[in-house]
Amino acid sequence: METLTASQKMSQAKDFLPINGTDHIELYVGNAKQAAHYYKTAFGFQSLAYAGPETGVRDTASYVLKQGKIRLVLTTPLKSENPISEHIYKHGDGVKILALWVDDAYKAFEETTNRGAKVYMEPVTKTDEFGEVRMSGIYTYGETIHLFVERKNYKGIFLPGYKEWKSEYNPAEGGLLYVDHCVGNVGWNRMNDTVKWYEDVMGFANILSFDDKQINTEYSALMSKVMSNGNGYVKFPINEPAEGKKKSQIEEYLEFYEGEGVQHIAVATADIIKTVRELKARGVEFLNTPNAYYEDLLNRVGKIDEDIAPLQELGILVDRDDEGYLLQIFTKPVEDRPTLFFEIIQRKGAQSFGAGNFKALFESIEREQAKRGNL
Ligand code: FE2
Repeated sequence: METLTASQKMSQAKDFLPINGTDHIELYVGNAKQAAHYYKTAFGFQSLAYAGPETGVRDTASYVLKQGKIRLVLTTPLKSENPISEHIYKHGDGVKILALWVDDAYKAFEETTNRGAKVYMEPVTKTDEFGEVRMSGIYTYGETIHLFVERKNYKGIFLPGYKEWKSEYNPAEGGLLYVDHCVGNVGWNRMNDTVKWYEDVMGFANILSFDDKQINTEYSALMSKVMSNGNGYVKFPINEPAEGKKKSQIEEYLEFYEGEGVQHIAVATADIIKTVRELKARGVEFLNTPNAYYEDLLNRVGKIDEDIAPLQELGILVDRDDEGYLLQIFTKPVEDRPTLFFEIIQRKGAQSFGAGNFKALFESIEREQAKRGNL
């Protein structure tokens, strides 16, 4: 088993849903209008669709942004008496919905709820002049939702209820292409249950595992297991804190998100140096990497196509596995709570997640944690 590559393990998943990829990611935020401006300006997302009072929605406003295949939905409640208001009060801004694109949302609901999934939304068919979308939803870790979206009979801009959002402010794209993976943080002793849930309920396979012996720094440790669907289009690594001398970054997240939730969204680019340089210039804050990381980089990862100088200048990390290598970098949290952040990743064959960088990454996060007084 252990000699199988990540790609080979993916093929062991039981793909009864099946999933074609990430449909969209919805964040609940305190001020969707301003958040949309940030994601457009800083990350290069494009205005796509809108739903709110002007389109007949009375209690929320939602802005849909697009870049490459990535669709982000930013939703805010308009009054305090709204379950979304409670969600934001408790968790702050964060990811509520990881929506998955399926061929049959009714069947996906039946398959997963028959296997024990907790119901979030019974199957519904929504229609407008552009056709119909069928949707259903289940709970995963914490208050996070997997929505199943079936859109083969729909030609509209996003979903029924949304209107095209035409803006006069259209900053250029940042080179982001698709969602590579989304990571969840779960509580103490919750890893095994969560992994089993993805195996049993979703038919996913555990393609990689790291224990606290492999992922640790002087101060803290964590465990991580990567769950993937059969075609590998959807990957959900799961983190659990582990005992260390001080508070781990996962504990800090759980404390400030006040529960389990999405830790980071990794988005792919075909030119990480260009993308990161652009995003930095637009105000995206990335974690720093010490110069020492680059001193023996080539000895660790072997020959790579890129020059070291721009990688070091920007703080981009490199890691290699059996199938190739990858380049990655992590933003600082994108809200004041130390919770959700983004990863920019460029894969050059590697199907793994940068285990060789965990130490450098965590030490960088710990420097930030220490500044916040949370280490
Ligand atoms: Fe990641």
